[in-house]
Amino acid sequence: MHLTEEQLLIYQNQGFILLPEYFSRAEVEIMKAELSALSIETSPKKILEKDGKTVRSLHGSHTKNDVFRCLARHPFIVDPAMQIARSKVYIYQFKINIKAAFSGDIWKWHQDYIYWRKEDGMPRPQVVNAMCLLDDMNEFNGPLFIIPGSHKEEMIDVTIHHPQVGTTSSNNSSNSNGWISSFSANLKYTLSQELVTDLVSKYGITFIKAAAGSILFFDSNIVHASSNNISPFGRSTVIITYNSIENIPLPVQNPRPDFLVSQDYRPVTPLAPDELSQFPGVKICTSNP
Ligand code: SIN
Ligand code: MN
Repeated sequence: MHLTEEQLLIYQNQGFILLPEYFSRAEVEIMKAELSALSIETSPKKILEKDGKTVRSLHGSHTKNDVFRCLARHPFIVDPAMQIARSKVYIYQFKINIKAAFSGDIWKWHQDYIYWRKEDGMPRPQVVNAMCLLDDMNEFNGPLFIIPGSHKEEMIDVTIHHPQVGTTSSNNSSNSNGWISSFSANLKYTLSQELVTDLVSKYGITFIKAAAGSILFFDSNIVHASSNNISPFGRSTVIITYNSIENIPLPVQNPRPDFLVSQDYRPVTPLAPDELSQFPGVKICTSNP
């Protein structure tokens, strides 16, 4: 599935494009069942909320889990990612943000690219995020806020906020470099209230309201955030970041763990139709591709 010229233009102008109900309910249910199983495992790839018990995010699940491996190689996602990046791509990061009912915490205002540039040595923002909604996202459950067009400001070099160390589900020594501050509610590079006020008066503000199964492609320099989820509705999303194979990060002093920033630079080959599930209404594979 490719984006049309018009869709690509929308992406370039506003910095994101929403494709409603891209995957079926049946496919979403398959992914949610996998997510439930993964969230109860103890793993350093699991980040907890400040309460020390609610799961905030899971990382790198595409390397172990067949359904998520299939999602990350799904032509519906990889083809548009290659169009946007204007080249072949590899999987840079794979995370599932859970934002649990009643307790999912905020994501402060930020851009993604500054993390990838400063922490990982990524040369250019030739990279794209694909967010796949596993629950309906609405005004109640901490939807994604976006400042449309703000990617045109490019990377805004904000002062580092020095966070306290957060919590993972295991006592992980690989966090001695503080990488968790890119994934906790206490983010490292956030935009000041003054900056956000100025950007919103220049570009406006919007939020994503869409059904489970929808896909949002968004630019690594778009300014975005989300509030906490005090509703009874979960709000889980998978975010897969595809980087251009022409944009391999340069060496850095304290590289983040591989499950956060993949060093597997092999281009992703989109799955062929016969590698996808042949069940009616299900195009996510249900067995090892
Ligand atoms: C992110 O910025 O990576 C996540 C935002 C969200 O899940 O609301
Ligand atoms: Mn982000």
